[in-house]
Amino acid sequence: MNHKRTLVTCALPYANGPVHIGHLAGAYIPGDIYVRYLRMRGEDVVFICGSDEHGVPITIKAREQGVTPQDIVDRYHKVMKDAFTGLGINFDIYSRTSSQVHRHNASQFFRKLYYQDNFITRETEQLYDEKAQMFLTDRLIEGTCPKCGNPDAYGDQCEKCGSTLSPEELLDPRSKLSGSTPVKKKTKHWYLPLDRYEPWLREWILERHKEWKTNVYGQCKSWLDGGLQPRAVTRDLDWGVPVPVEGAEGKVLYVWFDAPIGYISNTQELLPQSWEKWWKDPQTRLVHFIGKDNIVFHCIVFPSMLKAYGEYVLPENVPANEFLNLEGDKISTSKGWAVWVHEYEKDFPGQEDVLRYVLTANAPETKDNDFTWKDFQGRNNSELVAIFGNFVNRAVVLTHKYFGGAVPQNLKPMDIDAQTLASVKPCREALEKYVETFHFREALKEAMNIARIGNKYISDMEPWKVAKEDMDRCASILYTCLQLCADLAIAFEPFTPFSAEKLRGILQVGVEAGKDYRAGEGNPTENFYKPGEGKAVHTGCPGGDLVLNWEMLGQAELLPAGHMLGEAVLLFQKIEDSTIEAQMARLEGIKEARESARKAKEAEEAAAKIEPQKAEVSFEQFGAMDIRTATVLAAERVPKTDKLLKLTIDTGLDQRTIVSGIAEYYSPEDMLGKQICILANLAPRVIRGIESRGMILMAKQGDGKMRFITPEEALNNGAQIG
Ligand code: 2FM
Ligand code: ZN
Repeated sequence: MNHKRTLVTCALPYANGPVHIGHLAGAYIPGDIYVRYLRMRGEDVVFICGSDEHGVPITIKAREQGVTPQDIVDRYHKVMKDAFTGLGINFDIYSRTSSQVHRHNASQFFRKLYYQDNFITRETEQLYDEKAQMFLTDRLIEGTCPKCGNPDAYGDQCEKCGSTLSPEELLDPRSKLSGSTPVKKKTKHWYLPLDRYEPWLREWILERHKEWKTNVYGQCKSWLDGGLQPRAVTRDLDWGVPVPVEGAEGKVLYVWFDAPIGYISNTQELLPQSWEKWWKDPQTRLVHFIGKDNIVFHCIVFPSMLKAYGEYVLPENVPANEFLNLEGDKISTSKGWAVWVHEYEKDFPGQEDVLRYVLTANAPETKDNDFTWKDFQGRNNSELVAIFGNFVNRAVVLTHKYFGGAVPQNLKPMDIDAQTLASVKPCREALEKYVETFHFREALKEAMNIARIGNKYISDMEPWKVAKEDMDRCASILYTCLQLCADLAIAFEPFTPFSAEKLRGILQVGVEAGKDYRAGEGNPTENFYKPGEGKAVHTGCPGGDLVLNWEMLGQAELLPAGHMLGEAVLLFQKIEDSTIEAQMARLEGIKEARESARKAKEAEEAAAKIEPQKAEVSFEQFGAMDIRTATVLAAERVPKTDKLLKLTIDTGLDQRTIVSGIAEYYSPEDMLGKQICILANLAPRVIRGIESRGMILMAKQGDGKMRFITPEEALNNGAQIG
């Protein structure tokens, strides 16, 4: 180990919506597992996160809701913070980029680069909304993607084909603010010339970090192979950290410039005395947990900023996950297609670990993956309940039944017992290797293997039968089972911390889990981190002073004979079909609402469609048409048709019959007594055996909807129109 401490960050989520399972699976659960694991291993760790409160989407949401951007970020900051805590994702600090510390830091960072000449400036023509009097950047502009033709691409990205775009590339751009077509206007911005860092980045990533996950390495390589361009780090916006130099009035730092500096600011806020050692001592290992859409910013842009600045450590690893889909469709905050964490916590109280377990077992580590409620139920019922929970429950209940709740003595050991306990060690080794290389799915499988080993052992040994003939042998079997239970309490702590804590309560043991990262702050907390609380304290032992630690995992004896167990409680609850059906119905409702909104939009578009003008006619041609007023005297449906009405009308000249295809829009009663306009001299036609003489004038819009034409004020029948 050539590091002294590990600084772990999770992407600062935008404060423009609640956290969903895609966020969790992408960055936050893996980050939390990693931190818990390192703490169990006695490493020095801090775990940093917070809300990303700048950026265009927040201003758009505020505008849509008629509130200020500050209102939006205040609302979501709290929702997100509580959601993380509820799931046991215990950042040491969850701050926000609107904090004073951060504004100051981000400004100072920019100024240093500015005075070191690390930026170039460019005056370019950018799209400007004259109505809203604003430059349109990033998501303030929409248009057609030049690469795939998606008509709803954003100024910075096409969500359909995943291309990174710039606003000028969009075909037929339109302002998200006013809908108007933007004009071009000159503006000056500061750019980080990434091209200058390209040779260094190639060496640093492509040569020295071949161990990065293939999805991360591959994305970096393709960016580097494509050639890096200078990237603007300022924007014409009024929401963000103001650009702190002269000549930049009305401009703010680009959100992706200030947000990663937030990691530094938040560490500083947490550890005002000692933060520098975490960021500047080369013996710090910096690890960023992110989703795949953040790779370029964390592997290329932020490292170039840090390199330019010159004092900071660089990320040692950036374990990015791919995306999680939901029931086969892309998760989308704007479309409401998500499982929201705060709602899950309400719907499944006490079952936080089930979500943690499922999202890890099914994590999109190497490719996009799908979350389905059926899989969620299946993994809970047939893995957590049937294997892990069932094993622990049988071992503890039988110990209470036969031995009064005390760990029995190993009175009649057999080879199988020692072999079973010894088989935990390879699981532990594999688990360690997998966590340390960011393969959390595989690591969790190894933890689960320990439960499988236990479950198979107790089923094969049948202590409930052995108890009838040989209590000494039964004692050895349960002694062995309880050692495995203690192994599980250690191995599952990083993955399912609530259940691990529950299990420790059953076993009446504590856990050592971490060093105090606040040592040297003048305000040290106790020496150990307490799982479930995010603080550095020893959990102690609920019933005695037996304390487990990672090094005990896989050893022969973790619980000595005579140690008293606590009450047997179930670790996991079965999830019923009706619960899953309710969740599916909620999603179905979202789909239906989306489908009807889509149809309504389509209908609106069809209605708005205007037919092109017909070929020119002469004055004489128009004059040849005899158009005049008439009144409907009688109306009836033409039998066996949906569309036709037979109308008897008074034309002023005569009474006649006209058959008209308006029954979809008017009933016979609607037409009775109405004054209409007709083309009187149209050649007669026989329709369904009825002679129709003339045509009723109707206005028809794009979707087919029709209305008859009537004079603005009633006139005599036969009045000529022209
Ligand atoms: O994708 C996002 O949600 C961004 N807000 C992540 C920012 S990570 C960091 F740089 F702050
Ligand atoms: Zn596209």
